[in-house]
Amino acid sequence: MIIAQISDLHVGRPGELAYGQFDAAQRLARCVEHLMRRRPVPDAVLASGDLVDAGSDEEYRRLRELLAPFSMPVYFIPGNHDDRDALRSAFSEHTYLGRIGEPTCYCVTGHPVRLIALDTTVAGETGGTLDRRQIDWLEGQLAATPRQPALIFMHHPPFKTGIARMDEISLDAASAAHLGAVVSRHAQIALLTCGHVHRAIQVRWHGTTASVCPSTAFQYGLNLDGPGLQPSPDEPPAYQLHCWNGMEIVTHTVAVDPGARQV
Ligand SMILES: [Fe+2]
Ligand SMILES: [Fe+2]
Repeated sequence: MIIAQISDLHVGRPGELAYGQFDAAQRLARCVEHLMRRRPVPDAVLASGDLVDAGSDEEYRRLRELLAPFSMPVYFIPGNHDDRDALRSAFSEHTYLGRIGEPTCYCVTGHPVRLIALDTTVAGETGGTLDRRQIDWLEGQLAATPRQPALIFMHHPPFKTGIARMDEISLDAASAAHLGAVVSRHAQIALLTCGHVHRAIQVRWHGTTASVCPSTAFQYGLNLDGPGLQPSPDEPPAYQLHCWNGMEIVTHTVAVDPGARQV
């Protein structure tokens, strides 16, 4: 089974450039095209938040058009730039997104790997959290299927990246501790993958591999010294392929030529 992950798409309105430099929609279109040219074509796509830039209906309509070439199922979770109810309205046939006003937590079955989505967003906040109900729900899902490998995906990483500005706005410490306790009790978690940081990162975390998928729109520069955070124009858009080989998940990061640089 091959699972493609795209993250931090940041689709804006027509004519808008992220940081005045990056045409996120054009870059996403190239990633979609790149993925659809792959052989084999991935079995599913996970889109791990910050799907659009400002959570508007117009942006979600544009996102729909950009993702239309995908022939495989696409599973969304929101990020801090999203509006989960606007996302639900724009993709009403994605019934797994659940009810208006509720967090978007769901489980995809029927594949060799169980896909578990956790919604870490808080309306109006940049950082993320998981409430007690979500943690208990996750524990229940994992306890019910101890022998089926699981992949958990969420927007805000639960671990410190060493990038100070991002660590200020990641998953809050209490939620990370509760999540870590659940993860450490369930050996079937093959991968816990996130977005939000706009870089490829991996860490051993509570007995599993936790990671961040780079952005299809732009990467942030690696600043391990101080609070500054700037986009990195020399690093290309990218996506990841998580390949289940029957034993473990092997992750490949794939860079995509963004074409002409926007100025
Ligand atoms: Fe983002
Ligand atoms: Fe984010």
